[in-house]
Amino acid sequence: MSKGKVLITGGTGQLGSDIGELLLKQRYQVYSLSKKELDVSNYEQVEKTINEIKPDVVIHSAAYTKVDLAEDNQDTAYLVNAIGTRNIAIACEVIQAKLVYISTDYVFDGNKQGRYNEFDIPTPINVYGSSKLAGENMVKDFHSQYFIVRTSWLYGQNGNNFVKTMLNLAENGRQINVVNDQSGSPTWTVDVAIKVSELIKTKLYGVYHVTNSGECTWFEFASKIFELAQKRVDLVPIGSEEFVQKANRPKNSVLDHMGLRLNNFSEMRHWGDALEDYFLKTSQKTTDEDIRCEL
Ligand SMILES: NC(=O)c1ccc[n+]([C@@H]2O[C@H](COP(=O)([O-])OP(=O)(O)OC[C@H]3O[C@@H](n4cnc5c(N)ncnc54)[C@H](OP(=O)(O)O)[C@@H]3O)[C@@H](O)[C@H]2O)c1
Repeated sequence: MSKGKVLITGGTGQLGSDIGELLLKQRYQVYSLSKKELDVSNYEQVEKTINEIKPDVVIHSAAYTKVDLAEDNQDTAYLVNAIGTRNIAIACEVIQAKLVYISTDYVFDGNKQGRYNEFDIPTPINVYGSSKLAGENMVKDFHSQYFIVRTSWLYGQNGNNFVKTMLNLAENGRQINVVNDQSGSPTWTVDVAIKVSELIKTKLYGVYHVTNSGECTWFEFASKIFELAQKRVDLVPIGSEEFVQKANRPKNSVLDHMGLRLNNFSEMRHWGDALEDYFLKTSQKTTDEDIRCEL
C-alpha cells in the first residue's frame, strides 16, 4: 500500500532524483517532475499540476543553481528561486500539503567564527544566496506546514558537482589548484534524502540544517576524493584571491545541526564516511552495469 503522494520539483536534478529514488523504495507514490513537466515560475501550471495530483507532500528542490551566472541574470534567479517558490507555497497551502523547501548554506555571509545554527540571521553575499533566502521568506509568508532544509556542497550520482569535476581534471594530468581558505561540509545527496524522508513523517516544522557533519576546505575535500579514487595528482592549495569567480563565496559556511538535535533526530554522519560510501556505491553500480552489458 502507498504511504501517500509526494510531488518533487526539479525531480531530474542532482538532489531531486535521489530523493525520488529513496521515496519510491519507501513505497510512496512519487511524482518526480522535470522543468519541462512543471516550470515553477509559471503560476497557472503550478496551480493546475498541484490541484490535479493533490500530493500529501511537496519537495521543492527545483532552483536556478548557477551561482556565478546568477550575478548577471538576477531576474531569472529571483523568478525561479523566489517567485517560483511563492507559486509552490501558495498552491501547497490551498490543498494543505506539507512543503519541504531545499535551501542553502549560501544564505550566510561566512564571517561568523564557528558554525551557523538555524537561529543565526542570514545575510547573503551573492545573488544566488539572496534569491534562495527570498524563497525561504516566501515559504514562511505563504505556507503554514513547512520544513526549510538548508544543505551545502552537494554531490550525487546524477549531476555536475565538485567530485566529478576533480575526477575529470585528474584525467588530463595537469596541476590542480584548489581553494584552501573556504570551509564547509561536503554532503552526499543520498544522506539529505534520508533525512528529508524522516522529516516528512513528522509535524516538527521549521528550519533545519541538513549537511554531513564535520568540515573541511575545498582543498581538503579534493585530497580526500583523490585518496579514495586512488589517483596521484599534483594538487596545490591556493587562496580565494588566486581563483577569481564572479560571485562572492562565504569563507565559512559550516552549518550546525541544532534543529535536528533539539527535535531528537539522529545526527548526520561525517562527510568522510559519506564520501567513502558514495565511492563504494558508484563503483558497485558501474560494475553491475558492466556485467549487465556483458550479458
Ligand atoms: N548543489 C549544491 O551544492 C547545493 C548546495 C546547497 C543547496 N542546494 C539546493 O539544493 C537544491 C537541488 O540542487 P541540485 O544540486 O540538485 O541542483 P540541480 O541539479 O541544478 O537541480 C535543480 C533542478 O531544478 C530545475 N529547474 C531549474 N529551473 C526550473 C524551473 N523554472 N522550474 C522547474 N525546475 C527548474 C533544473 O532543471 P534544468 O537542469 O532543466 O534547468 C534542475 O533539474 C536546489 O534548491 C539548490 O538551491 C544545492
